[in-house]
Amino acid sequence: MIQWLLVPGAYLFGSVSSAIIVCRLMGLEDPREQGSGNPGATNVMRIGGKKAAAITLLGDALKGLVPVLVAKAMNVDSLLLSCVVFAAFLGHLYPLFFGFKGGKGVATSFGVTLGVTWLLGIVVSATWFIVYKVGGISSLAALVAATLTPLYVFLIVGDVNLVVTFVLISIILLWRHKSNIQRLLVGEER
Ligand code: G3P
Repeated sequence: MIQWLLVPGAYLFGSVSSAIIVCRLMGLEDPREQGSGNPGATNVMRIGGKKAAAITLLGDALKGLVPVLVAKAMNVDSLLLSCVVFAAFLGHLYPLFFGFKGGKGVATSFGVTLGVTWLLGIVVSATWFIVYKVGGISSLAALVAATLTPLYVFLIVGDVNLVVTFVLISIILLWRHKSNIQRLLVGEER
């Protein structure tokens, strides 16, 4: 039963906004008030360049990866693992420490997929990378990767709790990108 404490733990871990912390530490503008206003690696790239963006990406991915690895090390069942995955993702979107105004969840969802199985993480990351290389648009790459992730979970992991969890994550992630989708549809997304 004590294992269920992993869920609030994952949420708190996910609540640590790498973008905001990195920008503060590097003396950059607040990502919530610059560029797209999104506290994520893409917007940090606009504000502070590649190095700041890479650290943000790493931090946001780790806060998805670490709770899932801890849960797996404790041999939790797939229901609890799914709850840990979802809690870390929600922590990023609705961070307790930053007024419940977080990012769109792309890097953190990569982190949790990598934690579930390394192959899943690699396939999701490769999808993002290929679409980004072809289209040159971060949000488009994220939307394609997010849309395909539940299928990848079904094919690679085959666990119903995790498939349902990643369907939910994908729907929420797409919803968080609604302004990006509107810009993509009119050809104005950068
Ligand atoms: O990671 C979020 C990315 O897909 C879009 O970010 O800043 O362009 O809204 P942004």
